[in-house]
Amino acid sequence: MKKKIFSGVQPTGNLHLGNYLGAIKNFVYLNNDTQNECIFCVVDLHAITVSQNPKELKSNIHETVATFVASGIDPKKSIIFNQSQVSAHSEAAWILSCVARMGWLNRMTQFKEKAGKDKEKASIGLYSYPVLMAADILLYDSTHVPVGDDQKQHLELCRDIAQKFNNDYKIDNFFIVPEPLIKKEFSRIMSLKDGLKKMSKSEVSELSRINLTDDNDQIINKIKKAKTDTLPLPSTTEELEKRPEAKNLIGIYSSLTNNTLQKSIDKFAGKNFSEFKEKLSDIVVNEINPISLKIKKLLDDKVFLEKILKDGCEKADEIASKKIKKIHEIVGF
Ligand code: TYM
Repeated sequence: MKKKIFSGVQPTGNLHLGNYLGAIKNFVYLNNDTQNECIFCVVDLHAITVSQNPKELKSNIHETVATFVASGIDPKKSIIFNQSQVSAHSEAAWILSCVARMGWLNRMTQFKEKAGKDKEKASIGLYSYPVLMAADILLYDSTHVPVGDDQKQHLELCRDIAQKFNNDYKIDNFFIVPEPLIKKEFSRIMSLKDGLKKMSKSEVSELSRINLTDDNDQIINKIKKAKTDTLPLPSTTEELEKRPEAKNLIGIYSSLTNNTLQKSIDKFAGKNFSEFKEKLSDIVVNEINPISLKIKKLLDDKVFLEKILKDGCEKADEIASKKIKKIHEIVGF
C-alpha cells in the first residue's frame, strides 16, 4: 500500500543541522521512494504563534522552500506548499479545537518550554498550535509523519484527536490515525553549547547550532568551539551516556556517516577531542556545503521558488478542500 507522508517545517529562519538530521534528510529519503506520496508543508501559520517581522517571514518562506529543494526534495515528485495558502488548514484547526480537550493540551511540554515562566502572555495560537498541526496531518489522510523526537507528543495528540472525532461522529476511519516516523537513533540533535538542550533556532548563541546556510569556515569554527569535557573519547556506550556533549558530537558523526554509535565509538575510543573534531568538521562540511551553496543559488531565483509554491498550493488545495467539505457534512453545517 502507498504510504501518504506529510510533514511540516516552520519558516522562522536558520534551519539547522537538527532540522536536517531529525527531519529533512528523512524527507529526502521518503521522497525518493516511488511508493510514497509526499507532502512537505512550510507552516507559516505556525510561525506567527510568536511575533514575526512580515518581511522576514516572506523571505524565510522562500528560504525554507530553497532548503527543501537544495537538500534533495524534488518538487515534481512531492508537493511543497505553504500552509496559509490552503484555507482548509485554518478551518479544520477550528473544528478540531472543538474536539480536542483542554486537559490534553495542558500536558504539552513544548508549550511549557516555549511559553516559559510568563505563560499568561503567550499567544492563544502558541497554546493551540498542536491542534493546527493535527489539522495539517488529518486533512491529507496522511498515514506516516516523519519528524524529530521533539514532535512526538504532538503526534500522539493528533492521534487522540483523530480517534475522538471518529468516535464522536460515529464514522470509523474517517480520519486516518497516523503513524509517527521518528528515527530510533539521532532523532534529537543537541545544542553545541549544552548537550542537555535541543539544538534550536531560538537559542540566542549562533555558536549553539550549525545552520544549513553556514559556509565552511563558520562550520569549522562552530565545531572547534563546541563544548566538550576534558576526558579522551570513551570506549563504551555506557560511558558515552554520562557525557552529553560527547554523545551529541559522536551522534552527529554517526548520523552523517550512517554508522551505528558503537562503530563510531570504536573508531575514536581514547582519542582526544581535537582530533575527533577535525574529522567531524570534514564530514559536516562535506554534507552541508553543497546544500548551503544550492540554497544561496535558489534564493536568487524567486520566480522559481514562487512557482513551486503556487503549483504545490493548487495540488494541496484540491485534496484539502474535498476533505473539509466532508468534515462540514459530518459536523452538520
Ligand atoms: P519545527 O519547524 O520546529 O522543526 C522542523 C522539524 O525539525 C525537527 N527538529 C529536530 N530534530 C532533531 N533535533 C533537533 N534539535 C531538532 N529541531 C527540530 C522537528 O522535530 C521537525 O520535524 N510543529 C512542527 C511543524 C509542523 C508539523 C506539522 C510537523 C506543523 N505541522 C505536521 C509534522 C506534521 C515544528 O514546529 O517543527
